[in-house]
Amino acid sequence: MPEHWYREAVVYCCDVETFQDSNGDGVGDFPGLISRLDYLARLGITCLWLNPIHPTPNRDDGYDVADFYAVDPRLGTLGDFAELLHEAGNRGIRVIIDLVVNHTSNQHPWFQSARKSEDSPYRDWYIWSSEEPKDRHEGMVFPGEQKETWTYDRTAKAWYYHRFYDFMPDLNTANPEVKDEIKRIAAFWVQLGVAGFRMDAAPFVIEARPNETKDFTFLTDLRSHLQWRRGDAVILAEANVGPDEVGQYFGDEGGSANRLHMLFDFALNARLMLALARQDSEPVVDALRDTPKLPEAAQWATFLRNHDEVDLSKLTAEQRADVFAAFGPEKDMQLYDRGIRRRMASMLGGDRRRIELAYAMQFSLRGTPVIRYGEELGMGEDLSLTGRDAIRTPMQWTPGVNAGFSTGQDLVRPVIKDGLETTNVIVQQQNPRSLLSWFERMIRTLRQCPEVGLGECSVVDVPKPRHVLAHQADQPDRGKMVFLHNLADEEVTVDLSALGNAGNDPYELLADKDYPPVDASLSKISLGGYGYRWIRLRDSQGRHTGGQSTRGGLA
Ligand code: NOJ
Repeated sequence: MPEHWYREAVVYCCDVETFQDSNGDGVGDFPGLISRLDYLARLGITCLWLNPIHPTPNRDDGYDVADFYAVDPRLGTLGDFAELLHEAGNRGIRVIIDLVVNHTSNQHPWFQSARKSEDSPYRDWYIWSSEEPKDRHEGMVFPGEQKETWTYDRTAKAWYYHRFYDFMPDLNTANPEVKDEIKRIAAFWVQLGVAGFRMDAAPFVIEARPNETKDFTFLTDLRSHLQWRRGDAVILAEANVGPDEVGQYFGDEGGSANRLHMLFDFALNARLMLALARQDSEPVVDALRDTPKLPEAAQWATFLRNHDEVDLSKLTAEQRADVFAAFGPEKDMQLYDRGIRRRMASMLGGDRRRIELAYAMQFSLRGTPVIRYGEELGMGEDLSLTGRDAIRTPMQWTPGVNAGFSTGQDLVRPVIKDGLETTNVIVQQQNPRSLLSWFERMIRTLRQCPEVGLGECSVVDVPKPRHVLAHQADQPDRGKMVFLHNLADEEVTVDLSALGNAGNDPYELLADKDYPPVDASLSKISLGGYGYRWIRLRDSQGRHTGGQSTRGGLA
């Protein structure tokens, strides 16, 4: 089997500016992050995804980039960044960064030049209209925060197009010069040592104007360009697209993906939230059954929370209403009429059993798991902050001043003080029963289960209540596992004997509490309320013999 590191990775997303401040200016920075790499290594993650690190007016948390070839001086120097790559590499951690090339900041020198003259070499790098566009109040991505998608620029004497905020003009990605520049930007960072990119707004990058034919060949081109520079560089794209389009994003050459390596699984994310809200496994079963077969080497990236709102736009109105009712009942918790601006722990009412259940489920489903910083501690949100900033508060390291994030006075965002006595790294690391200790065990257990990332994931079709999800991961060279997750607070016993494992000796790798040993026939597997069990049926040597159990729960 070819080596595809990203298929066995555990990805941790962090925003440098809110992770660890090293110089007391209130803003997190690269030296601060370097000082926390041992924490990340202990947690067991293998890949660090950094939200944008470039110079920026910071009106969209760095997604408004003003220079693609430099780092934001508030975060440190390019030298500090190179040091971060080196130190992370020493700990076996790869670093990927956001590639935000659908738009630039309006402060970017390209846009400043473009607006000043029709003769500017950058004029055609953006999208202009001399007439007032009829559809200028359509297609806003951030309704409520954004009023239009075309804005008049007095200096340019023309309207410019922006899918997102008016301070982020869209690049004209149909222009071959822009395409070449995007390839140069990606190659530059790969040359510096990044292992790849999280590609922002991928569908918009390949569709310069709405309803234009998407230029998928650009993705083929970008990948091949990168692969010549660094063979194992990956592109993990943000593209909330339907199952009919997925294949085109991954591409297929002789059965193997030749465009994007990974796509965030937004469809699964919304269904996971629905399943948790309704305490019903069917939405996840549907999501797994709806997923098209992927070409070789293509991979899903699973997630529960990211740095944006929980996006429920692809659910039906009724399904969305159920998720809102369970996890974001107040108007203030909702965003853009489609999402929720809260973190998992608070959405699940701080119920430790349900938090473990949710993450055990995500990490055991097919694909590569991605986790957002602070989730491993059960961090909450600050709804007094505007929009998505509610879930972008500083990492909580200690119960002390500024949660150990900074010694400064004026922080980039306030620390959440509520519950800080226990929701912090230092206290939880000392407690083997803490959520953080559970995450360490769970992540390390997953790393012993390569069939999850590499194998086939399928629903186990046996009679059982709807609130139980049963699925398996199978990879002939790596092993086979079966997983049970109970979405409700009701004990059950599940009969998995139909798996035909009789005569073998299955053993448990992770569970919410002590259970009697799994019997070889798999006919009576008990499961507590909100319980979960990860059971190995076969290992990479084809062995079916028992081993040590790793208890995951509180008991
Ligand atoms: C998607 C990012 O996840 C989001 O945070 C950002 O605001 C938009 N793209 C615009 O770059």
